Amino acid sequence: MALQNIELDSEYVRSQFPAFNDQLAKDWSFFENAGGSYVPKNVIDQLSNFMTSTKVQPYADYAMSKIAGDNMDKATKLFSQMINAKENEIIIGGSTSINLYVLSNALKYILNPGDEVIVTNQDHEANISPWRRLNQNGAKIIEWKFSLDTHDLEIDELKKLISPKTKILAVTHCSNIIGSINNIKEITKLAHEYNIIVIADGVSYAPHGFPNVKDLDVDFYTFSLYKTYGPHLALLYGKEELLKKLPNQNHEFLDGQYPYTINPGGPNHEELVSLIGIYEYFTNLYIHHFGSDELSILLRIKKINELIATHEEKIANPILEYISERKDFNLIGKSKIVNKNRAPTISFTKQNKSSKEVSDFLISNKIATRNDNFYAWRCLQALGINPKDGVIRISLVHYNNKNDVDNLINTLEKYI
Ligand SMILES: Cc1ncc(COP(=O)(O)O)c(C=O)c1O
Repeated sequence: MALQNIELDSEYVRSQFPAFNDQLAKDWSFFENAGGSYVPKNVIDQLSNFMTSTKVQPYADYAMSKIAGDNMDKATKLFSQMINAKENEIIIGGSTSINLYVLSNALKYILNPGDEVIVTNQDHEANISPWRRLNQNGAKIIEWKFSLDTHDLEIDELKKLISPKTKILAVTHCSNIIGSINNIKEITKLAHEYNIIVIADGVSYAPHGFPNVKDLDVDFYTFSLYKTYGPHLALLYGKEELLKKLPNQNHEFLDGQYPYTINPGGPNHEELVSLIGIYEYFTNLYIHHFGSDELSILLRIKKINELIATHEEKIANPILEYISERKDFNLIGKSKIVNKNRAPTISFTKQNKSSKEVSDFLISNKIATRNDNFYAWRCLQALGINPKDGVIRISLVHYNNKNDVDNLINTLEKYI
């Protein structure tokens, strides 16, 4: 792709996010994006418009209600186009944790006693606990452990774990601690040779580029919209042929009406509509950099993804280099981003200091970060890190800039 000469216009990007001009937030360098991102003004406007004029029960025939329902459908349709799914393959729920919990309750009916379920020790607990709990239905749980040398989930290791009894594989697209990007396409291809259903957690991946779920060919894919510049919601994609077969988890009379069968309680209406603002923001970003054209939403997203990846690589690599070269720091995961092999989610510990002490120091210098296990406590245990103190995590997205990076490195330099 001929993107070589086009760089992300960082100033334009930041002008779209009101937080960067906000009295409380503007003096901070914000590095807690893997926890939750800021939202662009389009999202705030959509939310505010819905609350002002259409905050009624949707789908009735009077104007306010009809517009509310139309906008809810529009948000779902736009998001399905952005990730290359069909409209009836998208579930918008309260969080990834609840979406996976409901999905696991539906999927337990495909299991026979003795069937095997593979989980990893690299995932966030949201994509582990619901699947491990299937042992109550007679499933045998097998753990795919990441390599302590590379910190990666090695596919050769997975090959040794798969058996004719394996029915489900739950794996992260990107670890929220290690940052490595797992090759979900290759993993899925292998799993499908054995008819294994693959559930990929894209929560730490999607903020750096929306996935093309059909290209990955994954069966279920999930990410949290509050980390992709939206409100506190999460998206679950499921292949239509599978959603059709899953037993209803919703009201009895909704039997057969997938994908609502996997979304008891339904989405939060106003927040769902505000997702239109994410689409608008990415459209504006596209037009600002590439001009108006006839490209589909999906192709536009592909080009934006590349633009973002190049920017993130440029700003995150100096941090990775600095941390990996400091003798008193232990960087987790790869020390350089090359060809999007890693997300700019950077975790480390410091010798002879707790992660809390380092994090407190950074915060006292207006670097917004935190120390934690980030609910990936099995990953931390495997790394030999006390999950109570956890790691210091510096996570960037495309609105971070060189100034943030300089602030961080200069502050770390003061911390001996
Ligand atoms: C990788 C990963 N998966 C899953 C989750 C859970 O997402 P949610 O808060 O939407 O339940 C998180 C949350 O931080 C996460 O980082």
